[in-house]
Amino acid sequence: MAGLLLGGCATYAPSALDTHGPDSADIARLFWFMLGIASAVCLIVIGLLLFGVFRPRRGPAEERPRAADSRLGMWMIAIGGIAVPAAVLVGLMFFTVFTLRSVSALNDKNGITVDVIAHDWWWEARYPGANVVTANYIHIPAGQPVHFRLTSQDVIHSFWVPQLAGKTDVIPGQVNTTTLRADEPGEYRGQCAEYCGDQHAHMAFYIVADPPDRFTAWLAEQSRPAAAPTTPLAQRGQQVFLGNACINCHAIKGTPADARAAPDLTHLMSRPTIGAGILQTNRANLASWVTGARAVKPGVQMPSFDELSSDDLAALLAYLETLK
Ligand code: CUA
Repeated sequence: MAGLLLGGCATYAPSALDTHGPDSADIARLFWFMLGIASAVCLIVIGLLLFGVFRPRRGPAEERPRAADSRLGMWMIAIGGIAVPAAVLVGLMFFTVFTLRSVSALNDKNGITVDVIAHDWWWEARYPGANVVTANYIHIPAGQPVHFRLTSQDVIHSFWVPQLAGKTDVIPGQVNTTTLRADEPGEYRGQCAEYCGDQHAHMAFYIVADPPDRFTAWLAEQSRPAAAPTTPLAQRGQQVFLGNACINCHAIKGTPADARAAPDLTHLMSRPTIGAGILQTNRANLASWVTGARAVKPGVQMPSFDELSSDDLAALLAYLETLK
């Protein structure tokens, strides 16, 4: 019953059984195999139990077991209680080890590397050699292995893209690695899978697998600095940004803002959501976030700028909207 009901959640939280990469396919195969074996064992045991309960009773004269019966009993115990379970468990162990081997076999030396830094509660992604820093939307070329070097800025998180691979812990002071490959282009939702504080549930990210030429174009676009604002309102908004505490945490390439504590905003509008998936990126939501991030996502480090004048806020929003 629970399985059927939870099946309805697949749109929001993608199923690990809806596989789009070689690692997740291996893991799903192991899951189905184990489920099959476990179901067969369960059915056989229940069948034997029902047989024992409902078989015809012997008459009182036959109560004492005969020697032949007791030999049969010993054989049943030896085969059904020892040999078969041992064979099943050893078989499952070999299949598990085989799966682990094939999951790590993807770690070949081809393919690009992406550095991912987990923060409470969002994901920073850096593309070494490309001068690209982004947040929560991690583009990769489809059909190629991509090596991730994972570390954390604060507590332990876990990097999990159910449709592509298993989980990898993300630990402060340590670099863990994992390799993903998306078989075809698409957007694959990822989720922090290790409890990390109040907003653990709102620590989503997206692996966006592009066709390789589209990925190259994306990387080139993202490496560009932000275009200078052209309208007087947006120009004033840039001054608001640079004159407030925004500059202490955020970076915008092409301006003096280059702090790393919060998401890089150079191409903010190219990301469909803000706050690690909590709000769609649009003017109204940006206003809610700037003036009341802590109401939207309690516990978040972004202060609520609720004392900005409405003119300053309008100018700031106009500027943020130029960060395409
Ligand atoms: Cu990060 Cu849970």
